[in-house]
Amino acid sequence: MRYGFDGMRNGHWKAQELEKAITESFGVKYAQLTSSGTTALSTAMAVMGVGHGDEVIMPTFTFVASFEAIIAAGAIPVLVDIDDTLCLDPKAVEAAITPNTKMVMPVHMCGAMAQMDEIKAICEKHNLLLLEDACQAIGGTFNGEKLGAIGDGGTFSFDFVKTITCGEGGVFMTNNEEYHINADHYTDHGHDHIGQDRGAEAHPFLGYNFRISELHAAVGLGQIRKLDMILSTQRKNNAIIKNALEKVEGVTFRRIPDPAGENASFLSFFLPSEDLARKAHQELVANGLGGNFYWFDNNWHYIKKWDHLKNATSLYPLNTKLKDAIAAMDFNAFKQSDQFMGRNISSLINLSWTEEQAHERAEKMAQTIQSVLS
Ligand SMILES: Cc1ncc(COP(=O)(O)O)c(C=O)c1O
Repeated sequence: MRYGFDGMRNGHWKAQELEKAITESFGVKYAQLTSSGTTALSTAMAVMGVGHGDEVIMPTFTFVASFEAIIAAGAIPVLVDIDDTLCLDPKAVEAAITPNTKMVMPVHMCGAMAQMDEIKAICEKHNLLLLEDACQAIGGTFNGEKLGAIGDGGTFSFDFVKTITCGEGGVFMTNNEEYHINADHYTDHGHDHIGQDRGAEAHPFLGYNFRISELHAAVGLGQIRKLDMILSTQRKNNAIIKNALEKVEGVTFRRIPDPAGENASFLSFFLPSEDLARKAHQELVANGLGGNFYWFDNNWHYIKKWDHLKNATSLYPLNTKLKDAIAAMDFNAFKQSDQFMGRNISSLINLSWTEEQAHERAEKMAQTIQSVLS
């Protein structure tokens, strides 16, 4: 238990230690650990005041948690196109703004960043909240600023497949003191954390149990010490694969707004057509090259397969504004996103490869793709 029980814990405060390490590593004033990246997003919605009837602009390519958190808040996810960065297209963001828009949520997908300068400028111009979902881009930067620390709020996931992990866990980061204090209370049933007796604490507002455990935080502490090593290994291995694929005519790469700042957990590239990308993906898998993802056909990450969102399939009644807004959305209107996602393959970068294994894999990938293209 991360709060209270002072007498029994022999001075161990793992969640607090990890929060301090996060503020120091990522250059934010405040960090609130949570039980997952998803609950970190839900915490962000609550403390940033996003709720019933508010619209949140988010990309068509992300993880389902992005719209889950918006819907859980009673707000309306407004999906807009991505571009060749595989992240929000700033033009599509601006075009989607209505008087009900409250927040823009760029998602830094697959280790690299959205165009934060343009997106931030749009938020400032229209007085909108900026929440970065940096769950997949821990340790990345944009023009020297850490991803997740640029907006009014930012989140990481520390689940089992992220750059660093707690097993399960997440964090909401901000420089806003009020958001932080409220996040500390909100993630613990609204407890005000005043005094030594949990039973006597007041509840200034409604909250939930989104707490991380001390055990998970302890794992995170071990992991955060390895972050620099993890990033440099990812960058080295990523460069080996990229060097080989660059030589294959017809392969182009995702545009990265600040190439020096990607965390390099994936190498994302395009083939000339959807058919060729699907074929190349099938061949890569058939040749034993797992870890290559064709997100376009994947149930988790792209709008095409989000039938439960499109049909607003819920176990409980959703609010009418949200239901009506989902019913009115044209989920076939994302030709630009289809055009990029249909041609994209994202290749996972492994930490455990030896240099020789990375070169072997790179050559095999290049040959496989070459054979599909020629
Ligand atoms: C972009 C993005 N946002 C949010 C999440 C949710 O994180 P968690 O699995 O910790 O709930 C994920 C997890 O995959 C993610 O990729």
